[in-house]
Amino acid sequence: MAYNWSVLLLTTALITLVLVNCEESSVKPSYETDACLGCRTRFSRCCGGAISNYFRSSQFENIFSNRNSLEVDAHEVGFWEYQSFITASADYQPYGFGTTYRKLLGMKELAAFLAHVATKTSCGSKVATKEPLACGLCYNKEMNSTSYYCDEQYKSTYPCTPGVAYYGRGALPIYWNYNYGEAGRALKVDLLNHPEYIEQNATLAFKVAIWRWMTPVKKHQPSAHDVFIGHWKPTKNDTLAKRVPGFGTTMNVLYGDLVCDQDDNEFMNNIISHYLYYLDLIGVGQEEAGPHELLSCSQQVSFNPSSSSSLNG
Ligand SMILES: *[C@@H]1O[C@H](CO)[C@@H](O)[C@H](O)[C@H]1NC(C)=O
Ligand SMILES: *[C@@H]1O[C@H](CO)[C@@H](O)[C@H](O)[C@H]1NC(C)=O
Ligand SMILES: *[C@@H]1O[C@H](CO)[C@@H](O)[C@H](O)[C@H]1NC(C)=O
Repeated sequence: MAYNWSVLLLTTALITLVLVNCEESSVKPSYETDACLGCRTRFSRCCGGAISNYFRSSQFENIFSNRNSLEVDAHEVGFWEYQSFITASADYQPYGFGTTYRKLLGMKELAAFLAHVATKTSCGSKVATKEPLACGLCYNKEMNSTSYYCDEQYKSTYPCTPGVAYYGRGALPIYWNYNYGEAGRALKVDLLNHPEYIEQNATLAFKVAIWRWMTPVKKHQPSAHDVFIGHWKPTKNDTLAKRVPGFGTTMNVLYGDLVCDQDDNEFMNNIISHYLYYLDLIGVGQEEAGPHELLSCSQQVSFNPSSSSSLNG
């Protein structure tokens, strides 16, 4: 009996702690916070659980079923594995990656992230016999790149290593010396001297991708994660630029006007189709995606116009 009481008290104390934790946030989330398990984060306030609780190896295999297809030359057979993704995501789950507020939002974020990953690593156009939405994670690097992607503007902070090329690598490919420099600093891996580590190590390749998703491209801008989970509050300028929290704006964060502010276009619609398909495969259902205005960025002004900045590419 005494034991039961102490358990009850402890549980009550924990629940109270959790509720207080959630309510302390300056911006109240519009979701119920009953599933919050507390946070230790600077990015998001209420997160808990683990991606592996709702995302199983069989789902990963289903989503990326053609990644080891032998019909495509020179791609990375056997490179990408479920466990590498789970290991890579562990560092970022306490910051809300796939775990924010409630399982449903976490699952949606996972679908969104994987949709970006799939479109950037797809061999869909090369494998005519396969379902194009199921051709993600075919590549782990940009094929046949002819550029070193060395931006001399950053030579004091992130000097290019002679002979080394900073072409696209990873699950959400990064380009340019400064992005390798920033990612390497955050992940404590010497990517400036050894960008090739990313193509040798799937855990690192996923980690770099999650880093890109969780980290603003520029200071004082939101990350893709922030805009997706609704943590980000649009300013007046954002509203004028038609930038609203949701999936559409993740494309703006990651690709700017290479994809957004271009009316309806194939690149954008391809990413959206992947997202909707993955919502189904992950078990959320695409009816949870919300209205088309939130999925699209066709009318959004870019955060970083590509003419005036060297975007991550
Ligand atoms: C890369 O170049 C090789 C040889 O020039 C070619 O066979 C191959 O198809 C190219 N790969 C891609 C993905 O374009
Ligand atoms: C792969 O990368 C991860 C993350 O940086 C690291 O912990 C692990 O030791 C690496 N594996 C190998 C074989 O280098
Ligand atoms: C809003 O946009 C205007 C015009 O582009 C710009 O001058 C101003 O600095 C922006 N304000 C903020 C807070 O970004």
